[in-house]
Amino acid sequence: MSRSNLIFTGARGSGKSYAARALARRRECYVYVDPTSTVSSMTYTDTDPRKIAGVVEKYNTFDACLWVGHLQGPEFEEALRPIIAAAERKKKWVTIIIDEVGVITPGRAQLDSLERSARMGRHSKVSYWFISQRSVDVSQNLRAQCERQFCFRTGSARDVEQIKRDYGKEAAESLSRLPPHHYLIIDTQTRETSLRAPIKAPGMA
Ligand SMILES: Nc1ncnc2c1ncn2[C@@H]1O[C@H](COP(=O)(O)OP(=O)(O)O)[C@@H](O)[C@H]1O
Ligand SMILES: [Mg+2]
Repeated sequence: MSRSNLIFTGARGSGKSYAARALARRRECYVYVDPTSTVSSMTYTDTDPRKIAGVVEKYNTFDACLWVGHLQGPEFEEALRPIIAAAERKKKWVTIIIDEVGVITPGRAQLDSLERSARMGRHSKVSYWFISQRSVDVSQNLRAQCERQFCFRTGSARDVEQIKRDYGKEAAESLSRLPPHHYLIIDTQTRETSLRAPIKAPGMA
């Protein structure tokens, strides 16, 4: 479980970012990529990817946040590259969490290094968590590398329909009945689905 690539989906305000950041606190080494450039609760926060890559290289345990609100399209992949490289060189597992990946990478282009790294993660000890309002906004190549989908509430009938198509009627029914901040964990291979209560993270902003 802990080393899987994950995808988090759900409407704005459904609790994706909160849950991802709360779960990330259980990791020893992680980088959170923040498209809102507002998260300031982590030990290292910077707009300079080289500084964050330096943190990945230097420290045995760390939580770091890269602000990317000012970047667009290809600039985004370029910014990630030194961080991915540092994470792959590290002998320990590193989790890279990319929030609003569908917004940051419109057109689904320019993701080659990310797709390659997600595919090779088991070897290089890097796992990815992709967060997006809609799973269709995450490229098919990235989605294919995710062992689990964390589904939060959605207002989109099309999203429910897609879950039904991909994972069956029961998963879709559970999704349409989800209370606030609850989520489903769907195993993308076995389609096994489990309902989870909201994550408790005392003191998290
Ligand atoms: N598990 C939770 N427990 C308590 N409050 C939560 C929880 N999940 C979300 N919230 C509240 O809902 C707000 C929106 O959640 P957020 O994770 O930012 O949504 P999303 O990323 O899906 O748009 C958060 O700022 C927080 O106040
Ligand atoms: Mg969010």
